Amino acid sequence: TERTLVLIKPDGVARNLTGAILARIEAKGYSLVELKKVDATRELLEQHYEEHVGKPFYEPLVEFMLSGPVVAAIFEGHRVIEGFRSLAGTTDPTTAAPGTIRGDFGRDWGLKVQQNLVHGSDSTDSAEREIKIWFQ
Ligand code: GTP
Ligand code: MG
Repeated sequence: TERTLVLIKPDGVARNLTGAILARIEAKGYSLVELKKVDATRELLEQHYEEHVGKPFYEPLVEFMLSGPVVAAIFEGHRVIEGFRSLAGTTDPTTAAPGTIRGDFGRDWGLKVQQNLVHGSDSTDSAEREIKIWFQ
């Protein structure tokens, strides 16, 4: 079976939504494999977001991810990579579909698309890469 890396971003942790978000993922049928709260470092985030280095939103994104603790989890299940991204909703929380994590819990807090509550790996390669980064 497949595994994915899920992050609950600093906005989700600060808003006390960790349990609600994890409950939705479990309710869908995915199994929790590993879970921890992490104070990310710039070095760790540079690795995690290497595909976005140089983009206009990169620096604000990293600053945001350093603004408070994040919760990192590995979830397992059949097609969990696609399944979790569907559950999370599209990137911009303002327009993410109702019923998704971003659509139900998120809004655009003033031009801050990075405040979208969760991250999920987008392919088997990125899941493998990201799990190594966050779980040593
Ligand atoms: P992740 O699951 O977090 O990777 O989201 P994603 O795959 O939907 O988005 P993507 O990988 O393209 O971008 C990574 C993160 O950068 C997003 O989750 C947002 O937090 C942030 N981001 C992406 N695009 C924008 C943008 O246009 N503006 C801002 N401010 N942030 C962005
Ligand atoms: Mg992404």
